[in-house]
Amino acid sequence: MSNYHIKNLEEYFQVYRKSVRDPETFWEEIAEENFLWRKPWDRVLEHDLTQPAVRWFQGAQLNITENCIDRHLYARGSKTALLFEPNDPSEEPQHITYKQLHERVCKFANVLKEQGVKKGDRVCIYLPMIPELAIALLACARIGAIHSVVFAGFSSTALATRINDCDCSIVVTSDGGYRGAKTIDLKGIVDEALEHCKGVTTVLVVKRIHSEINMHKGRDIWLQPLLDEASSVCPAELMEAEDPLFILYTSGSTGKPKGMVHTTAGYMVYTAYTFKNVFQYREDDVYWCTADIGWITGHSYIVYGPLANGATTVLFEGVPSYPDWSRFWAVVEKHKVNQFYTAPTAIRALAKERLDFSENHDLSSLKILGTVGEPINEEAWHWYNDNIGKKQCPIVDTWWQTETGGIMISPIPYATPTIPTFATLPLPGIQPALMDEEGNTLHGNSVSGRLCIGFPWPAMARTIWGDHQRYKDTYFSTFKGYYFTGDGALRDTTGYYRITGRVDDVIIVSGHNLGTAPIEDAINEHPAVAESAIVGFPHEIKGNALYGFVILKETGEQRDPANLRKEINQIITEHIGPIAKLDKIQFTEGLPKTRSGKIMRRILRKIACGETDQLGDTSTLLNPEVVDAIIKDVL
Ligand code: WTA
Repeated sequence: MSNYHIKNLEEYFQVYRKSVRDPETFWEEIAEENFLWRKPWDRVLEHDLTQPAVRWFQGAQLNITENCIDRHLYARGSKTALLFEPNDPSEEPQHITYKQLHERVCKFANVLKEQGVKKGDRVCIYLPMIPELAIALLACARIGAIHSVVFAGFSSTALATRINDCDCSIVVTSDGGYRGAKTIDLKGIVDEALEHCKGVTTVLVVKRIHSEINMHKGRDIWLQPLLDEASSVCPAELMEAEDPLFILYTSGSTGKPKGMVHTTAGYMVYTAYTFKNVFQYREDDVYWCTADIGWITGHSYIVYGPLANGATTVLFEGVPSYPDWSRFWAVVEKHKVNQFYTAPTAIRALAKERLDFSENHDLSSLKILGTVGEPINEEAWHWYNDNIGKKQCPIVDTWWQTETGGIMISPIPYATPTIPTFATLPLPGIQPALMDEEGNTLHGNSVSGRLCIGFPWPAMARTIWGDHQRYKDTYFSTFKGYYFTGDGALRDTTGYYRITGRVDDVIIVSGHNLGTAPIEDAINEHPAVAESAIVGFPHEIKGNALYGFVILKETGEQRDPANLRKEINQIITEHIGPIAKLDKIQFTEGLPKTRSGKIMRRILRKIACGETDQLGDTSTLLNPEVVDAIIKDVL
């Protein structure tokens, strides 16, 4: 029996039982068999989920880049590690071999060192999807610096918040980025952000779009000349198993974003193991995940997981609609992609377009299709299965989170029979539990409740940067001794899991997690706005869209609602980014509140979804009369 390559359902159950009966031996065997350790661990696991305090492979020393790069140089030096497909299909793709990747990472790491970056320092990376992005992550890891990647669609305010939260003194960015027919002025956004980040002393700038940009004297430096001068020898920094590898921010239901901290050894072991199993990667396969490296999916399943397995991983700069909606399929054909991993929102958008966009391309290289980021609806699942997989490719509906570091619940291709909309079974080592609202564990099958995890796994986040109490309060206090995911789920008669969606105030729009509080805070900055509440409602392509209920200040002044709506979305774009814009904005005189003054979002949600006949008892509200007024004007 191989722990690494599960081949059928019986073997899955065997491996799963072993992983639960004796998690330490299970993970120890995987860690021993597959990685390069500079010093072995003293203990596999120490844990207390009530604190939470979790340590995996304590005492071990390693460097993740030796595992992702150096280890492959002998057998795979000339194999393509990163396959870069540019935004413009007429620009040549770049095949960056393991040997070249090694050299580029070492040079970049030496540049960081020359700029004074040391082990434990935080480096903010704000780059488009170009090879330098993956290389920057690895260069940080090479010298033990902690990378904090900020998705290049975030606004200057959001960027500044993230830079300041973890005290970055250096930012890596580019003159701009291509996105379909548009260019994005990333350097301009960084300049704006840095007006509020006094701690940043250095900005390294990659040249990508050759635009005219302002180079701030004494602070901004073009990267390429430094790389040209840098040595290609850079010994890997020896890291402790639990040294932080990176911080990645995720939205919370309240307040500022949470900087999830992932550490080195456990994250490496888990992302490598899950990549291999979930995508059944074989030596000559070409694997493509369409996510952006700015999100956890890109960290774990474009960079670390694939490279730890010596895989060829595609890095795509563009968007599915450029130059037209056949782009994904043209890339699959061009690079003979074997595993393809994307988000339901992209699938739904593609499914709305003409079928010949996919039919005109040879997709026969595809073996496995994946989805992630939000529940996939049945229609989208079938479209994907029929038209892309031609009913020959298992679909892995992978459920996981920024906090979990790697895939948690997912079919294993050829082993787990799939059912549309079900993420199916927990991966080995993962112990899900469903809870009712009172905190009782729901045993047996055919139950639904709040999804929790009852035992540590190697890639779980260890803390929130600078705020361990918030980590504990958010994830480990609702259900004692369990990690609470914030998602609801059901377990069917056979034990399969289906994720039903968030049960907190996070809304997933086009696969992006958005907290309602930061959006409301942004809207409330508008001088005409007194108060606001955001809820989600179903959207054909985005999964959910945002509906804002806004109370205006009494000024006696007449304002044009169309202009106000535009201004409100403008403020959101400035504070967070265009991904958080509202689809609908309804101006109202009041918001339904409890007697203690809390907004009753449940009622607003029903109204936004058009389910006004299911409002339940509103008589306990402080102001039941506003409900009728809101329903009357609903958009
Ligand atoms: C949702 C993305 C249903 C879920 C890796 C989770 C999913 C949140 C699935 C995390 C799936 C992710 N089915 N829902 N297969 N995958 N989600 O942190 O609500 O960006 O809590 O991590 O996405 O989003 P995040």
